Amino acid sequence: MDIANLKQTAKAMVAHGKGILAADESSRTIQKRFDIIGLTSNPQTNLNYRKMLFTTPGVEEFLSGVILYDETIRQEIDGVAVPKYLANKGIIPGIKVDKGAVDLPNFPGEKITEGLDGLGGRLKEYASMGAKFAKWRAVITIGEGIPNTCIESNAESLARYAALCQEANLVPIVEPEVLMDADNTLEVCREVTSQTLRVVFDRLKAHKVILEGVILKPNMIISGKKCFKQAGSKEIAKATVETFLEVVPKEVPGVVFLSGGQTPEEATINLYEINLIPNSPWQLSYSYGRALQGEALEVWAGKEENMAMAQKTFSQRAKKVSLARQGKSS
Ligand code: 13P
Repeated sequence: MDIANLKQTAKAMVAHGKGILAADESSRTIQKRFDIIGLTSNPQTNLNYRKMLFTTPGVEEFLSGVILYDETIRQEIDGVAVPKYLANKGIIPGIKVDKGAVDLPNFPGEKITEGLDGLGGRLKEYASMGAKFAKWRAVITIGEGIPNTCIESNAESLARYAALCQEANLVPIVEPEVLMDADNTLEVCREVTSQTLRVVFDRLKAHKVILEGVILKPNMIISGKKCFKQAGSKEIAKATVETFLEVVPKEVPGVVFLSGGQTPEEATINLYEINLIPNSPWQLSYSYGRALQGEALEVWAGKEENMAMAQKTFSQRAKKVSLARQGKSS
C-alpha cells in the first residue's frame, strides 16, 4: 500500500472547483435512463452516449474524475482505452466495483450490497487498467420500522471494500446512500444519515482504513420526495453541514455528494448553499450522475447530429455545479 499516493489521489479527486462525474450506471440502470429517450442500451449505444460526455471540449476544467462501469473501462474512444483517454485529458479514471443491492433476508424493505467475493483480484485488474479510485454504493431505505439491520451490514461491507481498495492502491469512494424516495421529513433523513455515517466510520476505523485516503459520497440531508413539507436549500445546507461536523472525521479530505433524484437545478443550488457555510474541514464537492447528465441526455436523444448541442448542455451544467462547489452563483 502506497499511503502517500492514496492521499495525493484523494486530494486530486476533490481539487478546487472540480468534482466527479458518475457515469457508472450498470446495464440495467443505463437502460432505465435511455428509456426516457426511447433508446435501447447495448455496448455500442452505451459507448456512443458516454463518448458524447467524455469528449466534451473543456469539461476537464470541471471534472477531477469519472466513475466508469466495467463495460466502459474495457472500451475505446478513437482507438484509445477509455481510462487512458480520460487520463490524457487530466481526468482521473475510477471504477464502480459493487455488484448492486439485493434484498436483505429477514428484513423486508432493506437492501445489502453484494460484490465482496473475489474483489481483491478484480481491484488488481482495474488498477492495471489505469483506475485510480473505486466506488461502492450501499442503499439505506427509510420506511415503517426501517432502516434496521442494513446499516450495520452495509457498513461492514463498505469497510471491507475500503480496506481492499487501499491495499490495491485505489482510493475508495464510500457511498452509503440514504434514499430520498419516501415521505419522511428532513429531520428523519438527518437522524438516519447521522446514524449511518456514525456506524460507517466506526467500521472503517475498526478495519484500519486510512481516512486521509478515503472520499465520502453521501446524500444531502433533505426531505423525502413524497413529504408534504419540502425543506428549502438553506435548511438543507445547514442540516447537512451541522450533521457532518458531528459525525464525519476531519481527516477525510473530501465529501462528494450524490444527486439522488434531485433535479439538476436543486442539486446545484443545494451545493451552493452548502459551500456558503464557512469553515468546513473537508472539501464539499459533487459526484453527480443524473444531475450532471440528465439535461444532456435529453438533448442528445441518441442522435449523432445532436452531439454538439448535448455537449454544450453538459458543459453548461458542469460549469454551474463547479461554481456552486466554490460558493459562487451562476
Ligand atoms: P446520482 O447523482 O444520479 O444519484 O448518481 C450518483 C451515483 O453514483 C449513485 O451511485
